[in-house]
Amino acid sequence: MRIKTHIVFFISFVSVFLNGLHAANSDSDSLILGCGSENEAKDADGRKWQPDSKYLTGSKGSPAQAQYQDPALLSEVPYMKARIFTSNATYKFPVKPKQRYIIRLYFYPAVYGSNNAEQSYFAVIANGITVLQNFSASITCKALTQAYIMREYFLAPLNKDSLEVTFSPSAGFAFVNGIELIGTPDMFGSATIVGASDQTFDGKSTNLQTMFRVNIGGQFISPTNDSGALSRTWYDDFAYVFGAQLGVTNEAAKDVKIDYKDMPGYIAPVDIYKTSRSMGEKKDINLSYNLTWVFNQVDPKFMYLVRLHFCDFYLSKTNQIVFTVYINNQTAEAEADVIGWTGGKGVPTYRDYVVALKDGSDGNLWLALHPATKSRPEFYDALINGVEIFKLEQGKTLAGPNPNPSEMLAKDQERERSFENQQQQGGSGTNKAHVIGGAAGGAAAFGIVAALCIAVYQRKKKALGTETHTSSWLPLYGNSHTSGTKSTISGKSTASSHLTTAAQGRCRRFSFIEMKQATKSFDESNVIGVGGFGKVYKGVIDAGTKVAIKRSNPQSEQGVHEFQTEIEMLSELRHKHLVSLIGFCDEDNEMCLVYDFMSRGTLREHLYKGNKSQAQLSWKKRLEICIGAAKGLHYLHTGARWTIIHRDVKTTNILLDENWEAKVSDFGLSKTGPNMDNGHVSTVVKGSFGYLDPEYFRRQQLTEKSDVYSFGVVLFEALCARPALNPSLPKEQVSLADWALHCQRKGTLEDIIDPHLKGKVNMESIKKFADTAEKCLSDAGTDRPTLNDILWNLEFALQLQDDPDGSNHSSRRARSDSDDAHLRNQNMMAIHYSNLSLGSESDLNEESNNNNNTNSNETTGDSSAIFSQIVNPKGR
Ligand SMILES: *[C@@H]1O[C@H](CO)[C@@H](O)[C@H](O)[C@H]1NC(C)=O
Ligand SMILES: *[C@@H]1O[C@H](CO)[C@@H](O)[C@H](O)[C@H]1NC(C)=O
Ligand SMILES: *[C@@H]1O[C@H](CO)[C@@H](O)[C@H](O)[C@H]1NC(C)=O
Ligand SMILES: *[C@@H]1O[C@H](CO)[C@@H](O)[C@H](O)[C@H]1NC(C)=O
Ligand SMILES: *[C@@H]1O[C@H](CO)[C@@H](O)[C@H](O)[C@H]1NC(C)=O
Ligand SMILES: *[C@@H]1O[C@H](CO)[C@@H](O)[C@H](O)[C@H]1NC(C)=O
Ligand SMILES: *[C@@H]1O[C@H](CO)[C@@H](O)[C@H](O)[C@H]1NC(C)=O
Ligand SMILES: *[C@@H]1O[C@H](CO)[C@@H](O)[C@H](O)[C@H]1NC(C)=O
Ligand SMILES: *[C@@H]1O[C@H](CO)[C@@H](O)[C@H](O)[C@H]1NC(C)=O
Ligand SMILES: *[C@@H]1O[C@H](CO)[C@@H](O)[C@H](O)[C@H]1NC(C)=O
Repeated sequence: MRIKTHIVFFISFVSVFLNGLHAANSDSDSLILGCGSENEAKDADGRKWQPDSKYLTGSKGSPAQAQYQDPALLSEVPYMKARIFTSNATYKFPVKPKQRYIIRLYFYPAVYGSNNAEQSYFAVIANGITVLQNFSASITCKALTQAYIMREYFLAPLNKDSLEVTFSPSAGFAFVNGIELIGTPDMFGSATIVGASDQTFDGKSTNLQTMFRVNIGGQFISPTNDSGALSRTWYDDFAYVFGAQLGVTNEAAKDVKIDYKDMPGYIAPVDIYKTSRSMGEKKDINLSYNLTWVFNQVDPKFMYLVRLHFCDFYLSKTNQIVFTVYINNQTAEAEADVIGWTGGKGVPTYRDYVVALKDGSDGNLWLALHPATKSRPEFYDALINGVEIFKLEQGKTLAGPNPNPSEMLAKDQERERSFENQQQQGGSGTNKAHVIGGAAGGAAAFGIVAALCIAVYQRKKKALGTETHTSSWLPLYGNSHTSGTKSTISGKSTASSHLTTAAQGRCRRFSFIEMKQATKSFDESNVIGVGGFGKVYKGVIDAGTKVAIKRSNPQSEQGVHEFQTEIEMLSELRHKHLVSLIGFCDEDNEMCLVYDFMSRGTLREHLYKGNKSQAQLSWKKRLEICIGAAKGLHYLHTGARWTIIHRDVKTTNILLDENWEAKVSDFGLSKTGPNMDNGHVSTVVKGSFGYLDPEYFRRQQLTEKSDVYSFGVVLFEALCARPALNPSLPKEQVSLADWALHCQRKGTLEDIIDPHLKGKVNMESIKKFADTAEKCLSDAGTDRPTLNDILWNLEFALQLQDDPDGSNHSSRRARSDSDDAHLRNQNMMAIHYSNLSLGSESDLNEESNNNNNTNSNETTGDSSAIFSQIVNPKGR
């Protein structure tokens, strides 16, 4: 196989002169090299990476193996091996003259033998252009909270048959893990210069760096699904949409054919043109705002080529939709009429604009659309399908400075270091965690566990990283604005200055006076809960809207961090089963988060705490609440571009609105994780006792399955109506997780289910439910179901309760499947600040107030049923 590839390559290389074929798609035109590797190796996608040494001229550097595999790495290949250069070294690649090439460089900053990537600074010169200068992969990855990065460049066509790429260490050493070289047709031509529309820019012989590539209104498109075999990655646009007005997303009907006409297919895949984003429903609304995207952390000293992709798959006449395109507040296109450009429905096109960032710009690139009323179109609307942004070479360079790490991260690292010191005094943290993790159920271990949880930090905390390009793919930390603000050991800085512009735009900003008025000066009688962040107050804003206001405890250092996290997260996530945010206040060292008031409080208080006179929750209602919460968590895990791990799933974080709809709350501890299977994030152990995943404890690696474990405890709580930990019970019963598993395995679960349920429920439904909960508590994360599986099983349990003879199974299955798709595509966009809510939070100590449920016996069938007959087969 390997030989064959080489022969093909050789032949086509030679034959270039003979036939000059533009075979952009043929394998022969691409090279995929695993640097420092001696053999061909496959990555997770099955792509083959060839050894690189034969392309090196002169110094061969030295091959090296990374000491540690970050859990966020998608695949060992090409990251675990690297080639290290301590002096200038040059690769010489055979290329077809006059052809453009895409080159991708892969960097995984790790420790390679005695070479620590933290000490590595280097330049890379390709095709005579400095693509990287004084580049620190380590600093760049840290700033973007990624484990590794990929940089992509479009090299201008050469006049010779080889391409030289030089690695030149400026301090320490240079290294590279992978190099990809792909021949591509030249897809750059003339572009309009914004602000000087009579002039054009010719992109034909320019070197460019890819900054952003976004499928607007649509989904992530993986390299394997790209067109033209160019292996580009397209992200969804949600992280970049600015403000509360998100417009609406559209998808082409099945019967609409996307007809490229004479536009080449490699420009962009069909999926780009099948989805779009347009404005709201009402004329006065359409006219009152700009549909806006903000792309941050672009290097101010360069010019950028902005490529906009359009395709109208609803309308077919000109002058139906005409809109103005603004780039950086300047008119790029006064009257864009997509049908006018393409001549018909379903025909795609693109337009290129070149814009210079002004010196002293804040590093944001704005794109805004607004209906062009002057041309009196039939509809006041605007639409767009995709955006690509490229940096243009300037004086033979494309290199910018290393990014500044966000302050949030700097602080994390500080804590990490202080933990490492502690750890050195106390032996291996991992061993300790293991021992304690095993004993976590025991009340005796309680205090020690608490101490550990606060202290345990993972040494390796690089997170996340399916991404690649230079900036701001990561909405949570990566975009943080760090300029000019001073941080904050005491938690007393202007935290909002760390927020992304986008997040600020999506939230309402309250003054502190408004907060005081809303809560009668934070009167104690309005306190509805207390959490690590501070107190939660009931309040009223805008003369009548009930809200819950979390006020940070100014002493809490943790507060600032969680405040920021929560705003960033909540402002981006919108889902029927997640609490979303109305706004925040950040003034005079006061930080508050504002949510709608959730009238029915927490799930916990309806199960066993507080007002006994309140009617007990029926089994059906419990099931519905669990299903709602599972949907919320499922969305966190899979709905956003980044997998989000809640980290503190418990009954007090599941809130209920007036209609008993469950909403997951409290993202203060959330972490984003890599959006992929088997991914996990190594991180500080946080969470609540009784709900902590033992595996997470042992390995300090966070996965979605840690949430699944906690959710299993929640399910048992709903079933048994007792706290997750109840130290007043006999030792073996203290931990609900342990006790319920014990009973479930011995077949005596009926003894411990909530007596209120006895006789009123379908035992098959209970059994299905308990089997699901049991599976969630599996010791190994990999044995636990996904939330999608859980959802199916809970729906099934609900159905058994509703409809015990099973006559209607298939219809329900079908329904929930489409629900799911619907959730992904529509709800998150459509639900704005409607049902926001927050209930009370609880403290650990409350776990110990407790109540005994008198357990009684009831008979059921045996519990050998197989877990999930209806596990979703489609996988992710
Ligand atoms: C290494 O490369 C850099 C950049 O091209 C150059 O400035 C430097 O002189 C080279 N060093 C040696 C020893 O050739
Ligand atoms: C490619 O697209 C197909 C159909 O849209 C989808 O089923 C598949 O999962 C995609 N592949 C990847 C790797 O995303
Ligand atoms: C564009 O306008 C917005 C407000 O509409 C402003 O915040 C932003 O700084 C402006 N950008 C530039 C580049 O002028
Ligand atoms: C839309 O953006 C343009 C350019 O920044 C600005 O002049 C205009 O006022 C904006 N319109 C609205 C309604 O915000
Ligand atoms: C506003 O935009 C929506 C879709 O984005 C469109 O359906 C509607 O017709 C527009 N309103 C007017 C008055 O044109
Ligand atoms: C190289 O980058 C580091 C980190 O960003 C910076 O501190 C240093 O000043 C840079 N050196 C040069 C010569 O630009
Ligand atoms: C308990 O619930 C009843 C009925 O819902 C309500 O009238 C009463 O005020 C509640 N008591 C407390 C202490 O919340
Ligand atoms: C089956 O379910 C559907 C919708 O859930 C309902 O409309 C229908 O009446 C049910 N049929 C039976 C036989 O229960
Ligand atoms: C709880 O159960 C224990 C025995 O299991 C009993 O001694 C105790 O009185 C019970 N507490 C309550 C509040 O019922
Ligand atoms: C449950 O039943 C078993 C045997 O049927 C009995 O030994 C046990 O005491 C019963 N438990 C309770 C709480 O009634």
